[in-house]
Amino acid sequence: MSNELNLSARDNCKIIVANWKMNGSETLLKDFATFSPSKGNDVIICVPFTLLDSAKEILPNFIKIGAQNCSEEDKGAFTGEISASMLRERGVTHVIIGHSERRKLFSETNSIISKKVETVLKNELTPIVCIGETRSEKKANKTFQVLEKQIDGSIKNLGSHIGLIVAYEPIWAIGSGLVPSDNEIKETHLHIKEKLSQFFTTYIPVLYGGSANSENCSKITSIENVDGLLVGGASLKKQDFLAICNC
Ligand code: 13P
Repeated sequence: MSNELNLSARDNCKIIVANWKMNGSETLLKDFATFSPSKGNDVIICVPFTLLDSAKEILPNFIKIGAQNCSEEDKGAFTGEISASMLRERGVTHVIIGHSERRKLFSETNSIISKKVETVLKNELTPIVCIGETRSEKKANKTFQVLEKQIDGSIKNLGSHIGLIVAYEPIWAIGSGLVPSDNEIKETHLHIKEKLSQFFTTYIPVLYGGSANSENCSKITSIENVDGLLVGGASLKKQDFLAICNC
């Protein structure tokens, strides 16, 4: 079972998302002011909250601006938090939700992530929901089981017709220089898409993330069922990210 489900990418157009994490500055944004890829891929740059306004002002218009997190609450006494409606007001279109660093370092559970996804959708923004297994889960052959649990817990009960992006980021591949084999990526993306197709009637793009760079990007994006990339470290270097956006 595979392509009968119409699981392949649309129109050869890829979605390339930069996750700047807690990096970047006005100076870096200015460096990207003349960013001009020759390919028509969708480009989204997710900057820290403090750079959202400058990103909107400085980056070329074709680049969509994303945030890296938001509160699951709408408003109220939640010191230090930022709501999805606040992000919308700032011109944000996408929000990364449930990145493994947030799951691990900030104790975000599937249930918190599912509330965040709901509030992002309610505010008509697109959540980019991250899922992925640890090295020990992979070694124990539990990758599919872990991913299914994350999908069940964080994005299952949302209605069948929604705009959502999923990013498969094996935790062991993030920042390590390690990348799964082509076949592992292919099989895992197919598995994710088959699982998603049980719940959603809309097309849900599935991105790959984890040590994607200017050298491996073309190979990874040519793998069946890979709709684009979520890029950390390499998105902070203009020339590298340009090469990735042209893949
Ligand atoms: P790297 O591309 O630095 O491995 O980071 C991936 C990531 O975590 C993107 O969200």
